[in-house]
Amino acid sequence: MRVLALLHKHLVPPDEAEIEECAKAPWKMEYDVVRALRDMGHEVLCIGVDAELAPIRNAMAEFHPHIAFNLLEAFNNVATWDQNVVAYLELCRMAYTGCNSRGLLLARDKAITKQLLTYHRIAIADFAVFPVGRVVRRPKRLRFPLIVKSATLDASIGISQASVVDDEARLQERVLFIHDSIGTDAIVERYIEGRELYVGILGNQRLQALPTWELSFHNLSEESRKIATERVKWSLTYQKKHGIESDEATDLDPATSQRIRDVCKRVYRSLLLNGYARIDLRLTASGQIFVMEANPNPQLSRDEDFAKSAARTGIGYDALLQRILNLGFRWRPERFG
Ligand SMILES: Nc1ncnc2c1ncn2[C@@H]1O[C@H](COP(=O)(O)OP(=O)(O)O)[C@@H](O)[C@H]1O
Ligand SMILES: [Mg+2]
Repeated sequence: MRVLALLHKHLVPPDEAEIEECAKAPWKMEYDVVRALRDMGHEVLCIGVDAELAPIRNAMAEFHPHIAFNLLEAFNNVATWDQNVVAYLELCRMAYTGCNSRGLLLARDKAITKQLLTYHRIAIADFAVFPVGRVVRRPKRLRFPLIVKSATLDASIGISQASVVDDEARLQERVLFIHDSIGTDAIVERYIEGRELYVGILGNQRLQALPTWELSFHNLSEESRKIATERVKWSLTYQKKHGIESDEATDLDPATSQRIRDVCKRVYRSLLLNGYARIDLRLTASGQIFVMEANPNPQLSRDEDFAKSAARTGIGYDALLQRILNLGFRWRPERFG
């Protein structure tokens, strides 16, 4: 197949790279995907996208791709605008991998996500949104400890130990930090103490849940909160130092595992997702499941959670990418609104 890979301009990978160079490169995921697609026999054209749609339009006209492999997570430096690029592909009736534009719009907004999940009776941490420029007034029902996050950015941007606050002054301070330094509205949630679990889901109508993955913190100081801060997610040295690793949560009892898979599939459907996504949740000591967020089009590096959890059920990397291509092919956005 002719595959048009849509990549961020600064993340277009080289054709060939040494393993060591690749491991730390910012374009690692792009390299893994493009390399694997080519090795599988697909013809891949990489397009670096920044703030223009013209390169995509030209590539569609000249290369006649069968499908676009969407690896974008922003457009013109705005994280939520990848949904508009997907909407453009839909208008062009171009097949694409991953999530549709409406699902992206719903899932990227943590407040809309929580409102929809509440309607579907899926448990979430109670929350309030503090828009930029408005006075920060905590609703009384929201009791400490609370966690303060960006309402729209992901990848743990703006999340550190200071995000969990125990009093009014810290809350004000942290909300203003999100407004001023991160530049988005803030969402404030009840802090949920519990195990941090991730579930990959594949599918359009019929869904497959991949094995439940757990982020473990083996070596964090007593007073630190076990949360996926920016450093926990992205710093290899920090991960090593504090014994942070992720692997299958093998000790869950079968009933709990089933409940987790069911709830994650319901989240996926409630947010009108398709293709592939990863649902983040927390499991409390008493067995309650709280959904934190859904991540459509999650990281697809060979050694990231999504591909690793697929491999654990026997879906190797090539097979995973082929499944994602096939799901993209079969998706008919015009039928789903
Ligand atoms: N309500 C919460 N209670 C406890 N921890 C939370 C809560 N919300 C977020 N976290 C912690 O912060 C991390 C990042 O939050 P998340 O909502 O998943 O944002 P992101 O989009 O940046 O991944 C989570 O993985 C979790 O460790
Ligand atoms: Mg998350």
